Amino acid sequence: MNTLVIAGGTDGIGKALAQAYLGRGATVVVIGRNPERGRHFLDTARAAGAGERAFFVTADLSLLTETSRAAEEIRAAFPTVDALVFCARHYRSRRTETSEGYEENFALFYLSRHLLGEALAEPLSRAEHPVIVNVAGPGAGLELVQWDDLQLSRHYHGGAALGQGGKLNDLLGVSYAEQHGPAGIRYVLIHPGVTATGFSGEYDAGTLSHIRSMQHHAKPVEAALPPIIAAIDEPPAEALSAYVEGRRIPVDTQGFDPAAARRLRDLTDRLLAGSRPS
Ligand SMILES: NC(=O)c1ccc[n+]([C@@H]2O[C@H](COP(=O)([O-])OP(=O)(O)OC[C@H]3O[C@@H](n4cnc5c(N)ncnc54)[C@H](OP(=O)(O)O)[C@@H]3O)[C@@H](O)[C@H]2O)c1
Repeated sequence: MNTLVIAGGTDGIGKALAQAYLGRGATVVVIGRNPERGRHFLDTARAAGAGERAFFVTADLSLLTETSRAAEEIRAAFPTVDALVFCARHYRSRRTETSEGYEENFALFYLSRHLLGEALAEPLSRAEHPVIVNVAGPGAGLELVQWDDLQLSRHYHGGAALGQGGKLNDLLGVSYAEQHGPAGIRYVLIHPGVTATGFSGEYDAGTLSHIRSMQHHAKPVEAALPPIIAAIDEPPAEALSAYVEGRRIPVDTQGFDPAAARRLRDLTDRLLAGSRPS
């Protein structure tokens, strides 16, 4: 492993992964929104003697413009990227739109992963064993997708937004593997299981008490790393694969329906082209 890019690598699973790979001699590029956390990542790396291999790119990945700018910076500085890991997420109990007019969870959890994967496909394709690891929640059914209202403008619930986001990432994996699998890029969807992390988000009182309980009782971050590290170090032979807490799950099921993946891809292309579907 030479160069690893982690979107959402300043806290939780992404941060632990960044530190693990710095310790193993890799070059690690972390994308995050919070410059203080970025400085802390760089300071910690310097203190551990890995300062010259640690890089931080400040970007709010809920904004398309910032996501594209971050990808450009990375492309300019790193001609080859061996692994791209998606860990950024931010829960919202109340529906929030970004300054670009997208529902925030949809923009951060789904659109940024779509954009970064596409923008970094070229540097990835130069690696010997390139892999994208999408840490989300694979395996649920397609009924979680509100096809006529992907940004949940009518019936928003934070949990529903997160659940749908996980499903959209499954379908993103299907499309990406179809398109970039022939170039050798492997796409691995990973559900880490409930893990005690920062749980970035803004929560109503009821949800917050549930989060506090999970932070107390869930497994430690280090326990979530082995399946992710295995996928990075030895990407599976198949273009697309999915794991739930280290257990491989089939990707030829209804939840990974190629027709649904194409439908999402079309909707996404139209959305990004500026012609919002009704
Ligand atoms: N923890 C669990 O129990 C669990 C369960 C199932 C799936 N997962 C998945 O595992 C992944 C990692 O989760 P986690 O719990 O480790 O996350 P976390 O501790 O909440 O950390 C989230 C990361 O995302 C970054 N982030 C949040 N909003 C951002 C934005 N707008 N732009 C850029 N970066 C942003 C945060 O950094 P800044 O605040 O510095 O921006 C932080 O580095 C997620 O994809 C999550 O869906 C986690």
